[in-house]
Amino acid sequence: MMKITERVRGIEYAIRDVLVAAKEVEKKGKKILYFNIGDPVAYGFDTPDYVKRALFEATNKGLNGYADSQGVLPLREAVCEREKRLNGVDLAPNDVMVTSGTAEAINFLLGALIEPGDELLLPGPSYPQYLSVTKFYGGKAVTYRNIEEEGWKPDIDDLRKKISKKTRAIVLINPNNPTGAHLDEKCVKEFVDVAAEHKLLLISDEIYDQIVYDRKSVGTAAVAKDVPVLVSNGMSKIYIAPGWRIGWMYFHHTNGELNELKDALMRVARIRLSANQPCQHAAATALRGPQDHIPKFVNELKRRRDAMVKRLNEIPGLSCIMPQGAFYAFPKVAVDGKRWKDDKDFVLDLVKETGVLFVYGSGFDPTYGSNHFRTVTLPPVEMINEAMDKLDKYMRQKK
Ligand SMILES: Cc1ncc(COP(=O)(O)O)c(C=O)c1O
Repeated sequence: MMKITERVRGIEYAIRDVLVAAKEVEKKGKKILYFNIGDPVAYGFDTPDYVKRALFEATNKGLNGYADSQGVLPLREAVCEREKRLNGVDLAPNDVMVTSGTAEAINFLLGALIEPGDELLLPGPSYPQYLSVTKFYGGKAVTYRNIEEEGWKPDIDDLRKKISKKTRAIVLINPNNPTGAHLDEKCVKEFVDVAAEHKLLLISDEIYDQIVYDRKSVGTAAVAKDVPVLVSNGMSKIYIAPGWRIGWMYFHHTNGELNELKDALMRVARIRLSANQPCQHAAATALRGPQDHIPKFVNELKRRRDAMVKRLNEIPGLSCIMPQGAFYAFPKVAVDGKRWKDDKDFVLDLVKETGVLFVYGSGFDPTYGSNHFRTVTLPPVEMINEAMDKLDKYMRQKK
């Protein structure tokens, strides 16, 4: 028997794990309506033309070799320009590092921060990769409460209570996946204050920063001023190119406080050679280009969000807070232990009976995510209505 390490044994990623159950149902001939994956391309949105052309041009120019491990200079410069334009943040290209998707940034970062037994403070619920990667490195993900009735706003008192000697960093995700919570400046400032008070690294995941419905987003670095913060972002959501696997992180510090961490991450980056070179050049063009696809994209997403949340709230046994950012909703389901054992049982039974596939809420946090499920709000309204009709019928039958 091959020996498999303990650290991979417990690895889970609910968003893709549910597919296994869906494929089984599909094999029996049932049509699956996929509402599980946060990929705009899968629902008919397309990468802007000027961005696609830039990729062709980069490959045509022969930019097909390995790239610098830190990332090509044009993209690092374009990230600096974007931060200045959107958030008024001054940043040097040397403080930017390009990764194969934000996912790789998360992996590098936690690899450098987490020793066995260390704790990472995360929003509860939050994007599952943070939970799994923390566990992979032997650490413990500690989630702070997010208050559903207040639009899933983080509970800063709970965050403070959960800081311990083992805490290595605080993560905020703004807007958050899976709740769609969009934090305002006051709330971000509270995070900055807590991090400064306890001398903890603040990690700000801003991958949905321009997918917001109520007001413009605030960059944590702009609020943080001289408090060190590490910010991640990427091409997957706003530029509709998740398959390119291009992300970046930047180190915002005034007196080189993050230099040691940056050097460590550079060593890690070198052992994986580089991120995809032509896609990096095209990403630089994307960030510097017209940006006029963004309001169109967000307007259409808003229409789909509104249609979905309205329908969800009309179904017996479900209630859903209106998400203010990203493209997810996180409805509560009345799981009473009789009709369904728990939220996972609900999701698996639903896909078996109706073909509608969501992700169970406990996959985003066993504490604050249970009795919920996550749906994407990305599909066209016709597909939303088809799924909602099935869900409605199913819930009425289960009553
Ligand atoms: C909050 C959050 N961070 C990071 C990622 C990973 O994105 P990428 O495609 O850049 O790896 C996702 C993907 O859904 C996400 O929702």
